[in-house]
Amino acid sequence: MTERFDFLIIGSGLAGLNAALLAREYGSVCLLSKGAISETNTNRAQGGIAAAMAASDDPQRHAEDTIRAGDGLCDERAVQALTDEGPQAVRRLMQLGVEFDRGADGAPALAREGAHSEPRVLHAGGDRTGLHIQRALERCVRSGQIDLRERHTAVELIVEAGRCAGAVVADADGEPHTITATATLLATGGVGALYAQTTNPPTATADGLGLALRAGAVARDLEFVQFHPTALVGGDGSAFLVSEALRGEGALLLDRSGRRFAAEAHPDAELAPRSVVARAISEAMQRDDAEHVWLDISHRPAEFLRERFPGVYAGCLERGHDLTAGPIPVAPAAHYHMGGIWTDLDGRTSIAGLFAAGEAATIGAHGANRVASNSLLEAAVFSTRAVRAAIAGVDGEPPTPPEPVSPLPVAGGNAAPSWAELRSAMSAGAGIARSADGLSEALERMRAWPASHSGDASLASASTAAQAIAHAASIRTETRGAHLRVDHPGTDPAWRRRLAWQIVRE
Ligand code: FAD
Ligand code: SIN
Repeated sequence: MTERFDFLIIGSGLAGLNAALLAREYGSVCLLSKGAISETNTNRAQGGIAAAMAASDDPQRHAEDTIRAGDGLCDERAVQALTDEGPQAVRRLMQLGVEFDRGADGAPALAREGAHSEPRVLHAGGDRTGLHIQRALERCVRSGQIDLRERHTAVELIVEAGRCAGAVVADADGEPHTITATATLLATGGVGALYAQTTNPPTATADGLGLALRAGAVARDLEFVQFHPTALVGGDGSAFLVSEALRGEGALLLDRSGRRFAAEAHPDAELAPRSVVARAISEAMQRDDAEHVWLDISHRPAEFLRERFPGVYAGCLERGHDLTAGPIPVAPAAHYHMGGIWTDLDGRTSIAGLFAAGEAATIGAHGANRVASNSLLEAAVFSTRAVRAAIAGVDGEPPTPPEPVSPLPVAGGNAAPSWAELRSAMSAGAGIARSADGLSEALERMRAWPASHSGDASLASASTAAQAIAHAASIRTETRGAHLRVDHPGTDPAWRRRLAWQIVRE
């Protein structure tokens, strides 16, 4: 069966929901989510959304903080668009019904997080920002004019004569359907579930990246996977995020002997850029031969902590830790992908008719290391831009990336025999601390994976994405931002460039 829409939007996080709500004003919209509509990274977001809303702040300062943390690889035009259009994007969310927490003066309360020189992070429900955004936008989506399909998985992009014409979609029973569209938007989120320990939901399996690569699109910055410094890691591998906002409120990192160590890595100590803190924790764990370090905020009043961080407080308690009573064990976990499907500033990919936005895309706004709370903002700003570009027209030549594109030595046709094997290879070789030996071992394992079978289409896309990430990580022989090479510990000015990739078919 073939169905036809003006817009096919793949993903129901902030990027997909926001895009669908704008697109429905201009045409018919089909919106897909692989799991339930709210099984998204967006729904889990804790700390908040950053924007220069305060009278004392301005988008230029926000841009400077973002560029400083990006470790030399931010695209300044993308950062400017992000920070200039940030306040407007936040106001749109408010109009769509998101109720941010307010201070005594009635204005949105603004928190401070790592690498931000100003308190500029709006939050909702204390530390349940994502849940509030997801709920408000879902309510609008369900109000009409959007054909919402939950548990529908895009398994292949349809590319005809160099143009994307939609996707093959497996329904909840695994039955394939063809959905054609004038414009197709990949808003499929991140890659965390390619790793054994992640803050992301199980649906974050890099499908968009795998599908786009397999269709011949250009991807970029793939080696930059962000490991959040502070997750409460359970014995089952689950990693419950302990928001950076706790460090913004004074939480301290302590090693096994109770010594504060973050200031040795950076003058901003616990509030240094995320990559610096994650690296300092990883090194402290190695020094102490420990599975975790400690995070202590018990010096703040218990009542304040329960009110400001209801989600983290409850989540920790469920896992047997009371953060008001003493230090809790934390370790880095896979959290966010700075890299992804390359797009121009208007969400256009290198394939005509195909757009990408949110975490699945890389516009260059985060460089090698994203600062806290800039991701929700990116999803909001650039999904709006992508829909506007699609409305303006999808004809004509697609854009080309500014950097040279290298052929990716990944056939795109083989797949890991199981999710456990894929996660084990990625965690062992392409995790927080990488080396040439570890990466080549992982790549060798991946090359031995068999030709993909039809059983699990997500596993096929994820396998392509995993191989691409590991390959890119093996090429960048320096340490920069979130990419930590133990065999190349320094940042090399000659590597201040981006790596763009494409699967080239014979
Ligand atoms: P998502 O919200 O992840 O949505 C992806 C969607 O794509 C899902 O609906 C999924 O089902 C769908 N999908 C995937 N593959 C397919 C397929 N093949 N077919 C159909 N559908 C598919 N960022 C901040 O800025 N501030 C924060 O405070 C913050 N806190 C975070 C806390 C946690 C625990 C996590 C995990 C992330 C956090 N982030 C935060 C990051 C941020 O939440 C995400 O980067 C952002 O929400 C991504 O939005 P998105 O719309 O791109 O993707
Ligand atoms: C957090 O609350 O620490 C997560 C924020 C983010 O990933 O931007």
